[in-house]
Amino acid sequence: MKKILTSIAALMMFGLTACSGSAAVTTSAQETTTAATTQAAETTAATQSETEASTEGTTAEETKAGKDVLVVYFSATGTTKDVAEKIASITNGDLYEIKPAKPYSDADLNWNDKNSRSTKEQNNKKSRPEIASGTVDLSGYKTVYIGYPIWWGEEPRILDTFVESYKFDGIKMIPFCTSASSGVGRSDKNLAERAGTGDWQKGKRFGAGASEDSIRSWIEGLN
Ligand SMILES: Cc1cc2nc3c(=O)[nH]c(=O)nc-3n(C[C@H](O)[C@H](O)[C@H](O)COP(=O)(O)O)c2cc1C
Repeated sequence: MKKILTSIAALMMFGLTACSGSAAVTTSAQETTTAATTQAAETTAATQSETEASTEGTTAEETKAGKDVLVVYFSATGTTKDVAEKIASITNGDLYEIKPAKPYSDADLNWNDKNSRSTKEQNNKKSRPEIASGTVDLSGYKTVYIGYPIWWGEEPRILDTFVESYKFDGIKMIPFCTSASSGVGRSDKNLAERAGTGDWQKGKRFGAGASEDSIRSWIEGLN
């Protein structure tokens, strides 16, 4: 699989020109921020925080209770979601899913099709697919795990949308990914570069159905 994907990726590198129509880094997350800010003018800062957090199932009560771990993830077919949920369970962390404004169909995910949406996005480093999930309030979190599938050896471009939309100062950022066989590759470094803020750690790759034990021992080894 890795060999095939690598070969196809190499062919595409040489054979394809970058596709046009790169999306501007204008995300619904930013729009939501604006909306939340307007709302904050009418309410208190505490209410704003509660409103933003609760939009993503991260309740203000949980944050107030002292949770300091957030697990952010994007998952097109559920594999990364499974690992993310296990990390959240082990760390007692909150979960935040990066949901694309336009969900990926099976055809969109067809890596054998050079014209599929995912192939075109990955070939265009400036592509920034829009995020539909609202903003997440990062205040209070000391550690953020950030997970994604490997697409063509890298992070899906929607991860770039996410990391470019937030400031991660003072937060330990821990990338993790799932793949058929590829390693982390440059994905962790790409995210750190695109984010520009945060204390980024080396990424970790898991296969489908990674056991809770294997995830726990990785987490314990981080401390
Ligand atoms: C568009 C696309 C590109 C992929 N590229 C790779 C790759 O380069 N290397 C690899 O090992 N797996 C690759 N895969 C497989 C996924 O990384 C793997 O199935 C992953 O666990 C899916 O995670 P998810 O269910 O959270 O979306 C690719 C999958 C898709 C849809």
